[in-house]
Amino acid sequence: MSSITEIIKKRFSCRTYADRPIEESTLQKLKDIMNSLPAGPFGGKPRLALVSAASSSPREWRQLGTYGIIRNARLFVAGAIRNAAHAMEDYGYCKELFILRATELGLGTCWLGGTFSSGNFADAINLQKDELLPAVSPVGYPADNKSFTEKMMRRIAGSDRRKPWKDIFFADNFSRPLTEQDAGECAVALENLRLAPSASNKQPWRVLRDDDTAVFHFYLARALGYNLLRGVSLQDVDMGIAMCHFALTVQEAGGSGQWVTDTGAPGTTSFDYIVSWRGKSNSGV
Ligand SMILES: Cc1cc2nc3c(=O)[nH]c(=O)nc-3n(C[C@H](O)[C@H](O)[C@H](O)COP(=O)(O)O)c2cc1C
Repeated sequence: MSSITEIIKKRFSCRTYADRPIEESTLQKLKDIMNSLPAGPFGGKPRLALVSAASSSPREWRQLGTYGIIRNARLFVAGAIRNAAHAMEDYGYCKELFILRATELGLGTCWLGGTFSSGNFADAINLQKDELLPAVSPVGYPADNKSFTEKMMRRIAGSDRRKPWKDIFFADNFSRPLTEQDAGECAVALENLRLAPSASNKQPWRVLRDDDTAVFHFYLARALGYNLLRGVSLQDVDMGIAMCHFALTVQEAGGSGQWVTDTGAPGTTSFDYIVSWRGKSNSGV
């Protein structure tokens, strides 16, 4: 079994797939993972479904499914969630659990929140009136070589880069960066959060540690012009993904804690407060 850090480092947005199907035993494992997902930190639980591209003509899926960005995918995971407060965070959290488990099985995935035909997928999973379909992802074996389009996409989004610690992690106030050294036992969890995927690689998460209580407050730095798309806020999905990386890493290291809404979290006009992590010990884990 791989460690969570190994799996997080292995995951990347795979846009070019090998032209071979997933074998039956692995497919069954995927279904088991899907069926045993817990609810997210805010109580919402997405309904995930595997959608086979083989039922339509490959050409149709190439053009309508993902606007030519995804090559050779035969299978997608689509997910709907009931619209509620913080449903997008729950969606990001739970679906990333699935994506990391799929990565562990040697499969490639790619979060798609923009470049997919929502109508096709909504029909395929029989989307209900009170549900949102924030994203889909292909699932399959990565091809040996990336397509030209994939290389371009990565370059445009700067996908191989992440913001440095000093820009996203803070101690006590937003003018004091939290260093890896000062983060102590939580350093790996924060580093794994930093490696999380985000829409257009904008990395909108900001984390402020309260030095007295060791509570970690999570905020969103919302990008202008990146608001609602089909009623979906992709940056809140990004936050759920980041929360997932953080919590899984803390838990694997034997720490425990919980997500809480902390009315004492410092207010700021620059960022939106979302949630806090309260560890059991005074090191924050
Ligand atoms: C919520 C979300 C939505 C995304 N939407 C798209 C998309 O529509 N099309 C696409 O090609 N990539 C999409 N991505 C992938 C990001 O561009 C990618 O995660 C980022 O560039 C970092 O690269 P990496 O995932 O390889 O680490 C999305 C990622 C997230 C988390």
